Amino acid sequence: MYTTLLTSLDNGIFTITINRPDKLNALNKEVFNDLDKAMDEVYSNADIKSVIVTGAGPKAFVAGADITEFSSLNKEEAMSLAKRGQDVFFKIENCHKPVVAAVNGFSLGGGCELAMACHFRLCSDNAKFGQPEVNLGLIPGYGGTQRLTHLIGKGKSMEMQMSGLLIDANEALQLKLVNYVTPFETLLEKTTAILQTIQSKAPIAVGKIIECINVAIVSDSAYTNGKTGFEKEIESFGDCFNTSDMKEGTTAFLEKRKPNFKGQ
Ligand code: COA
Repeated sequence: MYTTLLTSLDNGIFTITINRPDKLNALNKEVFNDLDKAMDEVYSNADIKSVIVTGAGPKAFVAGADITEFSSLNKEEAMSLAKRGQDVFFKIENCHKPVVAAVNGFSLGGGCELAMACHFRLCSDNAKFGQPEVNLGLIPGYGGTQRLTHLIGKGKSMEMQMSGLLIDANEALQLKLVNYVTPFETLLEKTTAILQTIQSKAPIAVGKIIECINVAIVSDSAYTNGKTGFEKEIESFGDCFNTSDMKEGTTAFLEKRKPNFKGQ
């Protein structure tokens, strides 16, 4: 079904592995088409409860956009390439099911942007992050100027993007670009454990948390319907009161038992 991705579904966790290890999983047009399709599957398949995005091989998560596709582009073609990449990454960011990046090595350029479009990130201790586009006379085009700034702050974002500086896993942790650093061998295990905890919660509430937090950080008003984050939070808080999971959660607390959420 996919030419550049491996996928698997295990206990509700859908793992998407970018699979071009000989090219360090660089993002070409086919990868974007496949990622787009894979996210459609995530949106539509009720058996998928959460998603891990990772890279094939021991060396790279994704080493960037595929530079071989750049050389022949004119300005208009470059703009539509960036728009296509941004749209696929918005589909990841706005997904109501948790999407987590398990960064298993180089996460550069479009790879860092892909990881940042996910809801949060873990990485292995060999990971390296950076936006080295400036070395090619370019800037990030898949949301990197915006998301890196939200995640690590203006000063460090400016320094990384203007210098092309790469940072290692521990600096990424210190800058809050990733939530956890693990040994390479246990990265997927730790990511799975976190997603299992999230999957035991009320899915509608989890989806609303994603929506509200995204309004706090997404600068494109097309994705916020003109609402402030606080307005969105009031509306979403109210929506939760219309769900059976909210009644189940509060009743279970009062009855001193574990809730059994159904996503309704
Ligand atoms: N686009 C296309 N191909 C890429 C790529 C990219 N972004 N990153 C790596 N590759 C390819 C290399 O060309 C090489 O292919 P080849 O074996 O056919 O020559 C293969 O992947 C392995 O990469 P290589 O450079 O030999 O590995 P390395 O260990 O020496 O270096 C990196 C690793 C990540 C430092 C280096 O590949 C690199 O700098 N990549 C580009 C990073 C970048 O600028 N990303 C932003 C793009 S906008």
